[in-house]
Amino acid sequence: MINVHLPVLREEVVSYLSLKKGDIVFDGTLGGAGHTVEIIKAIAPTGKLIGADLDSQAISTAARKIESEGLKKYVYLVKDNYANIKNIIGRFDIKSIDRFFLDLGLSSNQLERSGRGFSYIRKEKLDMRFDQDGDLSAYDVVNEYSEEELKDIFYRYGEEPWSASIAKAIASTRQSKAIEFTDELVEIIKQAVPAKFRYKGHPAKRVFQAIRIEVNGELSSLAKALTDAMDVLNPQGRIAVITFHSLEDRIVKNHFETFAGKCICPPDLPICVCGAKKRGFILTKKPVIASREETEQNPRSKSAKLRVFEKL
Ligand SMILES: C[S@@+](CC[C@H](N)C(=O)[O-])C[C@H]1O[C@@H](n2cnc3c(N)ncnc32)[C@H](O)[C@@H]1O
Repeated sequence: MINVHLPVLREEVVSYLSLKKGDIVFDGTLGGAGHTVEIIKAIAPTGKLIGADLDSQAISTAARKIESEGLKKYVYLVKDNYANIKNIIGRFDIKSIDRFFLDLGLSSNQLERSGRGFSYIRKEKLDMRFDQDGDLSAYDVVNEYSEEELKDIFYRYGEEPWSASIAKAIASTRQSKAIEFTDELVEIIKQAVPAKFRYKGHPAKRVFQAIRIEVNGELSSLAKALTDAMDVLNPQGRIAVITFHSLEDRIVKNHFETFAGKCICPPDLPICVCGAKKRGFILTKKPVIASREETEQNPRSKSAKLRVFEKL
């Protein structure tokens, strides 16, 4: 059975975006256009959606889906990084937007059918690039980063407690032969972590996440995109982001708190010197998570968190 990508928290996203006819929406993660199609239906015929994805296969899939729904005339699609939002909208002579949406991470298509080594349960070449024109691949990271650099990214981006042992095992293995495939890397990780200390879930999960984040520069793109989206957002405009792990969620939470005017001065200072300024408010005091029904239908939704911000 072909496992299609099911859009996560679809109804919640549409409801929180509170869309109206004529809105200009930036969807930075088109994927299979699951959310996109719902958004376009709500803003057409007077609105426009600018959709971006780094993956040209995702752009083709999204374009086909949008066309099959008869919605093509309401969209501009670009293969680009959502972090370039200012430049992207400028290309279409758009100066400001009403809604900004991101559904982070990777799609089921990328995980299960791209052949790019995103999954630790398949034997595929170590690649992990969303953008096939990107310079850095998982192969480069695994075979060319120093042991110290590997340890650092496994710890920072994977929160992997065995980062030092795994980095050491990789450095030692590649002395005799380059590590080319996912299954080789999985085996090295398994050997490096004593069985009795293996945590819940697959032992390679955290390291694969860390390498993917590094290859695609995911955290820096997210931080830049939020800052720049806020600048080009119209008054009463909204930003909605779905994250899938704690590092992404922390970035979104911290940015929204800063936008909401949270002072970050040390508590003993008599006056605020950090320049905190309220530019809007957080609509989701706690992140919105998937219902039991959704997590049963779509296990990917289990770790999803949706946060939404509205500009003053
Ligand atoms: C979870 S999928 C989106 C799924 C989509 N919302 C749907 O319902 O079909 C995430 C997509 O974001 C893309 N992506 C990841 N980082 C990106 C970036 N920095 N800029 C543009 N696209 C990115 C991936 O290639 C992937 O197609």
